[in-house]
Formats: sequence, structure tokens, C-alpha cells
Amino acid sequence: MKLLITGGAGFIGSAFVRLTLTTDAAVRIVNLDKLTYAGNLANLEPVAESERYRFVHGDICDAALVDGLLADERPEAIIHFAAESHVDRSILSASPAFETNLRGTFTLLEAARQHAVGRFLHVSTDEVYGSLEPPAEADENFPLNPSSPYSASKAGSDLLARSYFVTYRLPVVITRASNNYGPYQFPEKLIPLMISNALEGRQLPVYGDGQQIRDWLYVEDHCRGIRSALDRGRDGEIYNIGGNCSLPNLQVVRKILAATGRPESLIRQVQDRPGHDRRYALRSDKLTSETGWTPEVEFEAGLARTIQWYRDNADWVRNVKSGDYQTYYARNYAHR
Ligand code: NAD
Ligand code: DAU
Repeated sequence: MKLLITGGAGFIGSAFVRLTLTTDAAVRIVNLDKLTYAGNLANLEPVAESERYRFVHGDICDAALVDGLLADERPEAIIHFAAESHVDRSILSASPAFETNLRGTFTLLEAARQHAVGRFLHVSTDEVYGSLEPPAEADENFPLNPSSPYSASKAGSDLLARSYFVTYRLPVVITRASNNYGPYQFPEKLIPLMISNALEGRQLPVYGDGQQIRDWLYVEDHCRGIRSALDRGRDGEIYNIGGNCSLPNLQVVRKILAATGRPESLIRQVQDRPGHDRRYALRSDKLTSETGWTPEVEFEAGLARTIQWYRDNADWVRNVKSGDYQTYYARNYAHR
């Protein structure tokens, strides 16, 4: 089977490429990635020399490039990871999220339709459901209620993907996952940012009261869920992928401090994120009952593995934290 992966140099896409190429000899992968600040070829070093892997540097919004790639490679399926994925960046500047997440998804769907691609798996997020009052948990029929430019662009792209199934019978499957964590995550998201700051003895900026709740999913469990939906999901269906691990942010940050041996005095409660969703919670029993998938990695074990990876990969962290990262960090945190 040949897969076209978009955004395979990012956090989750690269985990999918590494996992798939090392566990499934029957798969070939073409990875189309623009290499934005979040894309990093170092994430793919373990598999870069594989003869079953090809990297293509390009933008999913480039219709001619995407069309030519599908004509040349004729993949059986597309797994669409590429996105502007960070809520805080979308708040500072919404335009890149709308360009890539909406126009880019449209460009891919249109090309997939023209080339009659056998399956289009659109990787989405539980953020499209917005903030849920306890004890509600979102199933796949829960209303969409996105709060940030990022989540609004993802909700829009979900609807667009679905419309290509309903209108053109393109075999679309949509997955919506909760908060991922694990190795190679760019240190702008909560867990890698707090780990790398803690290891460097820097302050840990917790937004507002830190009681916002997220459901945590180890990245390889997400990748296995995507593969299950790709292989055994039904055309036109949506599948939630959750980690069964709801925790308030402050509790996550305290676990990181305990595991890194740093004092709680490093915590700094700062001005809240505008439009901050209080709580995400989702049910993923549909994916489980239809495909047998369940999350396998407990949070404590996944977090320990992740912290060890950041300890062992100080060069990777140093590289991604140089240059533009400092400008972003000052822009997002200096005023808080
Ligand atoms: P990421 O920011 O780490 O990586 C995004 C990748 O997409 C990068 O390699 C980047 O270079 C590439 N990219 C961006 N714009 C592009 C463009 N126009 N053309 C080609 N490539 C482009 O993101 P991630 O955290 O790995 O998220 C991957 C997907 O999973 C996204 O669609 C995101 O919405 C979704 N998701 C993420 C999470 C999470 O917790 N991180 C949870 C659920 C769903
Ligand atoms: O739920 C899935 C989503 O999870 C994905 O779709 C997104 O791509 C991904 O970025 C993530 O979104 P969040 O906004 O939930 O993740 P983030 O890591 O940015 O923040 C997690 C929580 O931690 C959130 O309540 C905000 C808080 N936070 C975050 C940062 C970066 C802080 O308190 N301080 C911080 O410095």
C-alpha cells in the first residue's frame, strides 16, 4: 500500500511515519511537507534512508504540485496531518491557520477527487466540539462549537471533507483526537514546553487558574487509532480518538516538576488565553467497537518516556528553540 502523508515532518505525522515504516513492511510512504517552523526533518532521521520512503518539500495549497504528485505517485490513500496546529499562534495571527487548514484541505480534497484516491483520512481534533460542561462527553454527533481561529479552521475543514463524501462520494474518514503528547513535540504546546522549561530551570507559565481540563493521548496511540480508522473505518464516518485521561493543567505541570526534580516555585500563573476552552472530554467507543482500537500507554508511563526523550535530546530542543522561537516566545509570553 502506498500512502501520501501530508505534514509528516511535524509531531504526529512524523510519529506516524516512523511507526509505520518500522512496523509494516507492506507500506510505502510519500511525505509532503512545507517545513514550516513546526516541520523538522530531524524528526524523520530514523527512517529517512528507507527505500519505502520519499520526502517532497511543498505546500498543500499548491494545486499544481499536489495534482502532479498524485498523478506521479498514485497513492491508495491520503492521510492529511498538515496544519497550523497551535491555538496561541492562531490567536496572534489567524491567517496561516485559515490558509493551510482550509485552503490546503480544499486543495487536497479536490485533487483526491480528480484522481479518485481510494481513501482520504482527515486528521482532526476534539477542539471542534468546544468547551464542555461536566459531565458531558462529546461523541461524534456532538454539535461543533469551536472557540479559537485554529479550532474554527479545523471545524471548517471537517465540514468541507464531509461534503466531499456526501456530494462526490470521495471515501473520506475523519478522526478527532484529544491532546497528544510524546517525543519530538514542538515546545510550544503545554507538555513539551513545561518539560523543556523545567529541565532548563526556567519559569512555567500556567494560563489563568490552571484548572482547565484536557484529555491526554500518547502520540503512538493516536497513530494506531488513525491506522485502525484507515484500515477498518467506514466511508463518510467520523471517529473520536481519546486517551481516557482527563487532567487539569496544573496537575500535569506538577507531575512534570516532580518527575524532573524541580521545585513548584517555578510555576508562574499568568494571564489567561483569550477564549480559553475550560474542558474537553470525548468518547471514543465508536472506534473501539468498530475496529478494536484502545489506547495502550498509561499517562504516567507515557510522561516518563517523554521526559526521558527530552533529557536525551537536548540538541534537538536547542535547535528548535533557537531563532524564530525566541521571537514567538516573547510575543506570546512577555506581556502576560
Ligand atoms: P505540527 O504543528 O507539529 O506539524 C504540522 C506539520 O504540517 C509540520 O510538519 C508543517 O511543516 C506541516 N505544514 C504546515 N503547513 C503546511 C502546508 N501548507 N503544506 C504542507 N505542510 C504543512 O502539528 P501536529 O501536532 O503534528 O498535528 C498534526 C495534525 O493533527 C493537525 O492536523 C492537528 O490539527 C491534528 N491534531 C493535533 C493534536 C495535538 O495534540 N497536537 C491533537 C488532535 C489533532
Ligand atoms: O485537543 C486537541 C488539541 O490539543 C489539538 O487540536 C491542538 O493542535 C493542540 O495544540 C492542543 O490544543 P490545546 O490548546 O489544548 O493545547 P496546548 O498545549 O496549547 O494547551 C493545553 C492546555 O494548557 C490549555 O488549557 C492551555 C494550557 N497552557 C498552554 C500553554 C502553551 C498553559 O497553561 N500554558 C502554556 O504555556
